[in-house]
Amino acid sequence: MSGNLQLDAQGRLRHFLTLEGLPPRILHEILDTAESFAEVTSQQVKKVPLLRGKTIVNLFFEPSTRTRTTFELAAKRLSADVLNINIDTSSTTKGETLLDTLRNLEAMHVDMFVVRHAASGAAHFIARHVAPHVSVINAGDGRHAHPTQAMLDMFTIRRVKGPDFGRLRVAIVGDILHSRVARSQIHALHLLGAGEIRVIAPRTLIPVDVEKLGVHVYHRLEEGIADVDVLILLRLQRERMRGALLPSEHEYFRLFGLTEEKLARARPDVTIMHPGPINRGVEMDSQVADGPRSVILRQVSYGIAVRMAVMSLAMQAGPRTDETREAS
Ligand code: NCD
Repeated sequence: MSGNLQLDAQGRLRHFLTLEGLPPRILHEILDTAESFAEVTSQQVKKVPLLRGKTIVNLFFEPSTRTRTTFELAAKRLSADVLNINIDTSSTTKGETLLDTLRNLEAMHVDMFVVRHAASGAAHFIARHVAPHVSVINAGDGRHAHPTQAMLDMFTIRRVKGPDFGRLRVAIVGDILHSRVARSQIHALHLLGAGEIRVIAPRTLIPVDVEKLGVHVYHRLEEGIADVDVLILLRLQRERMRGALLPSEHEYFRLFGLTEEKLARARPDVTIMHPGPINRGVEMDSQVADGPRSVILRQVSYGIAVRMAVMSLAMQAGPRTDETREAS
């Protein structure tokens, strides 16, 4: 999918759907803008008037707590009016239904949709159908992409390890096959010039042509974690697994679950991350999750600043490319 749909005629971010195909300067701009918002969110008065008068709709077709609430807080801290709409998708969602929902909301003069959907491509679909002044932010579509999560992860890495991604070895551990987070993280790490990207997982949880994404593949945790600076653990996406891809969670924990004992093979200053929600005793034990090397809760806090950055940048962009001539 092309990155062009995401940019206006001046190359500014209008929609944020995927990191694939975006110029690296956009990622740097998001990270730099998030720095200033990280200051705001730690002050007594946390609001800035940047999006006063704008209406943002969180359109969630899939359950979420962390992502939805941090998007909501981010919108509020930018002084936007924000509406949460959770749509139960137990019945199959057809294109028409989605479009109808959209048209109705558009009639209420919405400026931005933050969309989460179980179908890959849902946010792109919406972006292609909204009015030119409306922005669409992807908050996770199927197995495809979760760009704001990847950017908050990059922001966390930059804060903890410094701005030079080129000297970093980053390993992503777990259910790569079903993870939109892993895919977006891999794109982000490439665009920011990470020194080495590894994926560590059982054979059944790795996509067939993952090497094409420019990563090194490991099937043993003990080997994969040697010398890495950052370890990102992923939740087992049981709701997306068809058939028996794993013998048992107990067996997964034995082989891939992170414990202090296994961590002894990693660098002493390794940083441990997880997008949440964590399954304690599956991806890692509590000692690691709550230990001094874990930055899991910092990731959540930074999520607000990064989402503020993405939303404010998208609202600064001009109308979509195809409409720009009339608008400018
Ligand atoms: C992730 C998601 O929904 O893709 N979670 C999140 O956004 N905090 C990862 C997950 O569900 O495991």
